[in-house]
Amino acid sequence: MLLSFTDVHQAVLGFRYSQSFEELLDYENRSPEDPHSLNDFLDLLIQIRNRHNDVVPTMAQGVIEYKEKFGFDPFISSNVQYFLDRFYTSRISFRMLINQHTLLFSDGIDHAHPKHIGGIDPACNVVEVVRDAYETAKMLCEKYYMIAPKLHIQEFNSKNPDKPIQVVYVPSHLFHMLFELLKNSMRATVELHENNTASIPPVKVCVTLGNEDLSIKISDFGGGVPLRKIHRLFNYMYSTAPTPSLNPSENAVPLAGFGYGLPISKLYARYFQGDLCLYSMEGVGTHAVIYLKALSSESFERLPIFNKSAWRHYQLGPEADDWSNPSRDPRDASRFKTN
Ligand SMILES: Nc1ncnc2c1ncn2[C@@H]1O[C@H](COP(=O)(O)OP(=O)(O)OP(=O)(O)O)[C@@H](O)[C@H]1O
Ligand SMILES: [Mg+2]
Repeated sequence: MLLSFTDVHQAVLGFRYSQSFEELLDYENRSPEDPHSLNDFLDLLIQIRNRHNDVVPTMAQGVIEYKEKFGFDPFISSNVQYFLDRFYTSRISFRMLINQHTLLFSDGIDHAHPKHIGGIDPACNVVEVVRDAYETAKMLCEKYYMIAPKLHIQEFNSKNPDKPIQVVYVPSHLFHMLFELLKNSMRATVELHENNTASIPPVKVCVTLGNEDLSIKISDFGGGVPLRKIHRLFNYMYSTAPTPSLNPSENAVPLAGFGYGLPISKLYARYFQGDLCLYSMEGVGTHAVIYLKALSSESFERLPIFNKSAWRHYQLGPEADDWSNPSRDPRDASRFKTN
């Protein structure tokens, strides 16, 4: 039997997960007081993180090959969606833990970000992350189309109108979501206006802070998507871009193509109890809105439920406040009320 590129890669992926799991089990009974164990554990975590770097494109290639071979089946697609949502949410969580551990336990201070606690920025300036993500998406867009839409930013801080909007958040997660949404908006805008690049409309970003939500709206004039198709855009099996190559010799970063930008960004938003929604007006353009929790005490981790005891654990709510906000009393149950 001839194995496809993906069959081989999927088998290697599965093997890599069991290898990482076995290597971690070695540390189950080692003393955390032993400095050698701690150092070895740190090295192991770095190796594991690197080993799983290419999971997303490899899985994406698998889905693409499956679709090419067997076509699109709504039943299979919803099973793939369910599996991948849980798989990638777990991956976000593993990598969050690995990053926290390696950043906090490795020697040396992160001079670029001395105030960060591991990967968490206790005062993440949202507009700065928007600008960073825009510059990176713009470079990519210019590489493909020789042009990119401009950026207009508005900020409304309802709690402190003269201050920039800040939040306790993981800047790399926020960057990921904004980068994906900006790439999509730029692609739609440039492709719609390709015959009239002189009057290409800007992409507008509006950042707002209320008592409960921090919202970021990205609006484009890229022609929009009909309502009938909106839910498909979050499907791992859907993209309107040409399939990118996984060939390592052609290692150019694609502007679009796997159909993973939206579904994975939604998982990032949901991971800390937020969400990502698309509102489109066909013929004109699209608004993509990222909702984040304004308060760090409400941004606790959201994980897939694999068994009953995990479900009971999540029903109880987080037992202690996250340590980025130590002044809260963890026994104060009133904050879990749902109104
Ligand atoms: N702002 C937008 N305007 C119009 N169409 C959009 C917009 N955002 C997304 N889409 C449509 O949704 C599809 C899926 O988007 P998604 O970001 O998930 O994947 P992609 O851009 O095709 O590939 P990639 O994984 O590289 O992001 C796109 O191919 C495009 O057809
Ligand atoms: Mg995309």
